Amino acid sequence: MTVNPESAQFGFRPTDATEKPGLVDRVFTSVASKYDLMNDLMSMGIHRLWKNRFVRRIAPTPGKAYLDVAGGTGDIARRLARRGAGSVTVCDPSAEMVACGAARAVDAGLPRITWALGRAEALPFPDATFDVLTIAFGLRNVTRIDDALAEFARVLRPGGRAWVLEFTPVERPVLKQAYDAYAFDVLPRLGALVARDSESYQYLAESIRAFPSRAALAARMEAAGFSGVAHEAWSAGIVAVHTGLKAL
Ligand SMILES: C[S@@+](CC[C@H](N)C(=O)[O-])C[C@H]1O[C@@H](n2cnc3c(N)ncnc32)[C@H](O)[C@@H]1O
Repeated sequence: MTVNPESAQFGFRPTDATEKPGLVDRVFTSVASKYDLMNDLMSMGIHRLWKNRFVRRIAPTPGKAYLDVAGGTGDIARRLARRGAGSVTVCDPSAEMVACGAARAVDAGLPRITWALGRAEALPFPDATFDVLTIAFGLRNVTRIDDALAEFARVLRPGGRAWVLEFTPVERPVLKQAYDAYAFDVLPRLGALVARDSESYQYLAESIRAFPSRAALAARMEAAGFSGVAHEAWSAGIVAVHTGLKAL
């Protein structure tokens, strides 16, 4: 599947590919200070279990260099660092999210995480820099997913592995109804109440529904040069993990 490079979607709204990054940035600038609290409220804490399980699956080791793309306030980076990753770098375009994350890392006694500003589609790192790349709840915000996947392959060393954790469109009919009611009715109201921003949380719900299916994302990872691509659904298909190896 290819994407017209000139068109993009901001949630359900068709938009120009040049316009989407600014719209997404506005969402995260707006919610940064309430982002962690909102995640806990919206998911009733379950996002922590998904992130713990994701990092356990990755099984970080001291000899390897880890890059967390769209790392936001550092939830994955802190878990990688605590579980023994050799070095951890976060890359995210939002200065506000990164500032919150850097402060949290210092509070958590993990000051050695490195923070960089940058987009997944043009990562500010040389070729073959990292052994492992992670992106959690980030890929659906990216305007040009295929460019980002190509960048993931570029910055990984041969034999390196990419891991993607993302919401996926729910397929089971009964669950889909309940999930949509929650995502489209409850989340924007919660956003209005806690973060004083219902639109950003409306975008969240829409961006989940507009994201490619698991099979489609796997095919796009293969097209970007990953081999042995595998995916697994968690929590009745609400989220999924995709992984693939950069060829040796
Ligand atoms: C939902 S947050 C996820 C943060 C973190 N990974 C987590 O799991 O809590 C999405 C993040 O994607 C970032 N983002 C938006 N557009 C991006 C892009 N084009 N490339 C990389 N990151 C992007 C946002 O700034 C935001 O921090």
